[in-house]
Amino acid sequence: MIKKRRLGKNGVSVGSLGYGAMVLEGYYGKSDDGHAVSTIHRALDAGMNMIDTADAYGSGHNESLVRRAIAGRRHQAFVATKFGIVFDESESGTDLPTGWGFSLKINGTPTYVNKALDASLRRLGLDVIDLWYAHYPDPATPIEETVGAMAEAVRAGKARYLGLCNVTAEQVRRAHKVSPISAVQFEYSLWRREAEADLLPTLRELGISLVAWSPLGSGFLTGTVTRLDPTDFRQNNPRFKGDNFSVNRDRFSPFMAVAREMGVTPAQLALAWLLYQGEDIIPIPGTRRADRVEENALSADIQLTPELLRNINELARPGIAEGATLI
Ligand SMILES: NC(=O)c1ccc[n+]([C@@H]2O[C@H](COP(=O)([O-])OP(=O)(O)OC[C@H]3O[C@@H](n4cnc5c(N)ncnc54)[C@H](OP(=O)(O)O)[C@@H]3O)[C@@H](O)[C@H]2O)c1
Repeated sequence: MIKKRRLGKNGVSVGSLGYGAMVLEGYYGKSDDGHAVSTIHRALDAGMNMIDTADAYGSGHNESLVRRAIAGRRHQAFVATKFGIVFDESESGTDLPTGWGFSLKINGTPTYVNKALDASLRRLGLDVIDLWYAHYPDPATPIEETVGAMAEAVRAGKARYLGLCNVTAEQVRRAHKVSPISAVQFEYSLWRREAEADLLPTLRELGISLVAWSPLGSGFLTGTVTRLDPTDFRQNNPRFKGDNFSVNRDRFSPFMAVAREMGVTPAQLALAWLLYQGEDIIPIPGTRRADRVEENALSADIQLTPELLRNINELARPGIAEGATLI
């Protein structure tokens, strides 16, 4: 059973690693619902109890999968979900360019916030969501308005803790004045280290945890992705595109070699490095495979010396990965 960490300075304890359920929707390769449920069970067994979903994953299907997986095990699970990416064509929203060749439609208006809350509760089969995030800030709605509406959910007993995703340090400060924010979810890994500049210091000042999404670089840092199927969602990611993919594989091969020398997998070393960045970091790796859940959980036992950390920091220094991305 992996150790626990606090969510926010004075918050609840959750597993130091969570489980990201997005991959169960087939974005990075086919997934099967039966296997998906047993994979989530394995995460709960390992103590990776923060199960991360979103209403938009599979247009609601992912939340329904989580409902199946936590049936009879509600007491073990800490359920985190998100709203704000519009996936119902009949709903309005504001375009948000992603740099991935498409835009997302975002809605953070109080009316939408309330509607999304009840829909998520229904799909998850819950009376209360443990951690409820705004998935992206709505460019057309002040963040104070969105968080003000989310705070109503806490007062109504429908959400326990609030979070934000993909925000700037300035947006977190503004939101945190309206209602306490417990966690910010942001892409953070050995090939995406932008959070270290402004966001992480601000979160530390405010006592907010950083939940690291795509902590394995959407699979890249595991060293097991050699080619992508034409339907794979990562085809949109500039880091996996054309020459960038082979350049990145060359640049990260010294990191893979360090893992091999240590007798651990690159996935385990990438997660261990993140855990060493601070007690306030909670990575949420995703996998469709129960054996990989166990492999990832073991990363919490890896000891890294200051010298090794320095070496990894240098091998995967900020800016080393090729391929700019806006989200
Ligand atoms: N807030 C946001 O905007 C946002 C955005 C993206 C993601 N997220 C959250 O973050 C979670 C994780 O992100 P992610 O799924 O994009 O990326 P990730 O966790 O960095 O990587 C997932 C990929 O790594 C592979 N993998 C996992 N463990 C492995 C291991 N031990 N060995 C080899 N391969 C392994 C998986 O393949 P297999 O399935 O084949 O094992 C999968 O394709 C998501 O599930 C979602 O909950 C949030």
